Amino acid sequence: MKIAVLPGDGVGKEVTAQAVKVLKAAVGNATSLELTEAPIGQAGVEAAGDPLPQTTLELCRKADAILFGAAGIPGDEKLPFDQRPGASLLRLRKDLQLFANFRPVFMFPELIGASTLKPEVVDGLDVIILRELTGDVYFGEPRGIRTLPSGERQGFNTMVYSESEVERIAHVAFQTARGRRRKVCSVDKANVLETSQVWRDVFTRVGKDYPDVELTHVFVDAAAMMLMRAPKQFDVVATGNIFGDILSDCAAMLTGSIGMLPSASLANDRKGLYVPVHGSAPDIAGKNIANPLAAILSAAMMLRYSFDLPELAARVEKAVSRVLAGGQRTADIYQPGTAKVGTIEMGDAVVAALGRA
Ligand code: IPM
Ligand code: MG
Repeated sequence: MKIAVLPGDGVGKEVTAQAVKVLKAAVGNATSLELTEAPIGQAGVEAAGDPLPQTTLELCRKADAILFGAAGIPGDEKLPFDQRPGASLLRLRKDLQLFANFRPVFMFPELIGASTLKPEVVDGLDVIILRELTGDVYFGEPRGIRTLPSGERQGFNTMVYSESEVERIAHVAFQTARGRRRKVCSVDKANVLETSQVWRDVFTRVGKDYPDVELTHVFVDAAAMMLMRAPKQFDVVATGNIFGDILSDCAAMLTGSIGMLPSASLANDRKGLYVPVHGSAPDIAGKNIANPLAAILSAAMMLRYSFDLPELAARVEKAVSRVLAGGQRTADIYQPGTAKVGTIEMGDAVVAALGRA
């Protein structure tokens, strides 16, 4: 297993170290694990003057999987796109064509009280937000900032989806639903956007190849509302890059903390980038208080999707459940009556629980 380890910035470094620790403990000596660390984000700027140094990119191209922490610094958005630490993740997604982004949102029973929603709304929740990751307004050209004849500045971006791009994510959506509750909800804004009209047409067409899967279409504004009101009605929510960005943060909060949620971004050849949904969180970085569970659960997804080791993945996930059941909590999921632990202690607790699995 050739894995590129890119801790990146802020809490990325801290949580990735815990994920690596758990990965090593889970895999043991059974399979050979080749871990190579490389800088990305601000760490890339400091090491090589580029948020995505060429050597890091080459390493990722050769790897079977990439374990990513977080990239980004405060004020990031003021820099030109190519020099933005946070944009290194976007460049990596595009370069490696990691178009299928899985963001599972599931409720650990022990954390029901940490959600801001009523327990009966989130109890047993298990949804996958499937986000297209290499197209849409994120990458559409032309883009830029121009000056109008009046002297006023104008920002512009282009929202685009071509049929082939929608087709490949639609197949992933229906195939994923087949392994679950056989429901795909395609989210778009077809009442306003031509991009979405193409999106909806393609989903409808591809859906005919999967008569055993129920397909519904929902506008993105309504989808946001339905996710808050009754999230358990969803199975696989398939959507474009920008809507998926927004809806996945919404969905994340159903579970109480974005610090719990892993993600996988896959290319056609099973190569994958595994990264917690949360960002670099500079405000809490370096304090040993960040929740490493999203990073650890991302490593579990890596075992499942890139290395086809579902039992090992399940062992890691069970170890996380066991630690939560034992009452250990990082600050973001702390509730009175539980024991508050730091980032490193949480990683150690998961390793210890693996031994008992
Ligand atoms: C995400 C993040 C990224 C995105 C940022 C860091 C560029 O918000 O993965 O959801 O917008 O895709
Ligand atoms: Mg986001």
